[in-house]
Amino acid sequence: MGPPLLLLLLRLVFTLQLFTGPSPAAASSHISAVISQSGLDFAKDLLVSHAVETLTPLSVPDIEKSMSIPLVGTVSMTASEIVLHGLTVTNSTVAVGDTGVVVAASLASANLTMEWGYSYSAWFVTIYDCGNASIQVEGMEVGVSMGMKNQNGSLELSVMECGCYMEELDITLNGGASWFYQVFIDAFSNHIRSSVENAITNKIMEGALKLDSFLRNLPKKIDLDSVAAMNVTFVNDPLFKRSSVEFDIDGLFISSDETAAPRDMLLGDIKSALPLASSSKMLWISLDEDVFNSVSALYFEAGLLQRMVDKVPEQFLLNTASWRFLVPQLYRKYPDDKMVLNISAISPPSVKINVGRIDATVDLDVTVNVLDFGEIVPVACMSVSVAVSGAAAVSGNNLGGRVELDYFSFALKWSQIGKLHTVLVQTMLRFFLKSLFVPYVNSYLEQGFPLPIINGFYITDAYILTSYSKMIVSCDVAFIVPETLYPVQTQGRFII
Ligand SMILES: *[C@@H]1O[C@H](CO)[C@@H](O)[C@H](O)[C@H]1NC(C)=O
Ligand SMILES: *[C@@H]1O[C@H](CO)[C@@H](O)[C@H](O)[C@H]1NC(C)=O
Ligand SMILES: *[C@@H]1O[C@H](CO)[C@@H](O)[C@H](O)[C@H]1NC(C)=O
Ligand SMILES: *[C@@H]1O[C@H](CO)[C@@H](O)[C@H](O)[C@H]1NC(C)=O
Ligand SMILES: *[C@@H]1O[C@H](CO)[C@@H](O)[C@H](O)[C@H]1NC(C)=O
Ligand SMILES: *[C@@H]1O[C@H](CO)[C@@H](O)[C@H](O)[C@H]1NC(C)=O
Repeated sequence: MGPPLLLLLLRLVFTLQLFTGPSPAAASSHISAVISQSGLDFAKDLLVSHAVETLTPLSVPDIEKSMSIPLVGTVSMTASEIVLHGLTVTNSTVAVGDTGVVVAASLASANLTMEWGYSYSAWFVTIYDCGNASIQVEGMEVGVSMGMKNQNGSLELSVMECGCYMEELDITLNGGASWFYQVFIDAFSNHIRSSVENAITNKIMEGALKLDSFLRNLPKKIDLDSVAAMNVTFVNDPLFKRSSVEFDIDGLFISSDETAAPRDMLLGDIKSALPLASSSKMLWISLDEDVFNSVSALYFEAGLLQRMVDKVPEQFLLNTASWRFLVPQLYRKYPDDKMVLNISAISPPSVKINVGRIDATVDLDVTVNVLDFGEIVPVACMSVSVAVSGAAAVSGNNLGGRVELDYFSFALKWSQIGKLHTVLVQTMLRFFLKSLFVPYVNSYLEQGFPLPIINGFYITDAYILTSYSKMIVSCDVAFIVPETLYPVQTQGRFII
């Protein structure tokens, strides 16, 4: 058995810890994603299978070597067209150290083909012979330890150590007087071994560079619509724990470019997830309530939380004639006129998350207007405080939700049509809130917003937990080769 490469690399990851300086003060992060051991295994399998795909066939640089052989003299040998094929992984492991992760793989016997040449000069005669050879590699292990740091809000990946080890090379020459040269080639095998090991190491380093540039080029914001974008800047270095890695991102919504494409409507298809705790999920995304409050503030500032309502299911309610007996002054001043309601939030809705609960409150001004000869005339205004409670759900890679009306309170702000009957107003408000306001809010919430997931990965089997001021989405992920789906970058694909 070869050196326990994994242990060796792991030890390195742990000892390196001693030399790293104190980590900088933690910056505020509002979303963190923890990749659990099962998530790391999933990522590792992707990485290893992709690596094997890119490794074979692997061409190894030609080798030329001279050596002195007693009685014969100096012979020179060349090995060319060295190609490695048929790598298959028997098992692979990923482990987390204090400063990075280690991925190690054992490979089933691989084989190489090459051409060999032999020449030596003696008494003015040059003897030359050549042929091909097949090489069987037994017990091969490959390992790489990688660290990740936050560099100006992006992730930077570096390889700390990369190693490849072959236990045994079994070289069989064909052609020429091969039986005669076998003895030389055996002396040559160390050079072949180290050349192949180097070639593999180089290829892995090349792959790590690509992965690094992929990570560096991850977008720093994800557009939601023309108003809001999620700031997905990484804050802090990734946190390497016993069997998980945590990534912290800013996570708050910021105003997006005006040029952002409008979001596709995606209504319905929301499954309510059951809060079944299971630590075997690959990914845990924790979102602060600030995330929700930041998007609500942006929508409020953009003036989107305001609605003129002139159509309701019971259209007769928006005519002064219907109010002839209940609000006589209204009918007297504006007989048989259409009415329009102006429902406006007067401050950003506030979201509170607690164990098993998501609550939101919003303060509205509800102004009753009359359409008098085409002119909108405000006649009364109520301030209404609405409390809703909701449930969140994951649909695709989006986090959405639904709310229900919990309670509301109101006060008449002003009126030009006399006092309004409290019970009447209450009944009407309940009707409007339930049949208009809540469905309207839900049409937005059902769309939700995209969770910060790297392109190509898809959330499966999500469930949602809520705790004090936090929502936690726990899920598995699936990966679909993003060649055709890649909006951000077509070059870097996922790994290596
Ligand atoms: C070497 O690998 C190739 C490709 O996997 C396979 O076709 C061939 O039989 C192998 N040769 C030996 C000697 O194992
Ligand atoms: C692969 O399995 C063998 C035997 O079970 C074990 O000795 C070796 O350490 C494993 N290698 C890795 C990289 O896990
Ligand atoms: C850091 O990132 C910001 C915004 O992405 C960029 O403008 C700035 O040039 C970067 N600074 C360095 C040193 O890379
Ligand atoms: C290797 O050499 C043998 C004998 O000369 C020949 O039959 C065979 O086709 C060669 N194989 C390759 C891959 O060149
Ligand atoms: C995004 O988050 C980073 C890290 O918290 C912060 O430095 C940056 O200013 C934020 N970007 C915007 C546009 O607010
Ligand atoms: C609706 O009401 C809000 C707050 O009372 C007010 O700012 C806004 O101008 C009104 N909109 C229209 C179209 O009257």
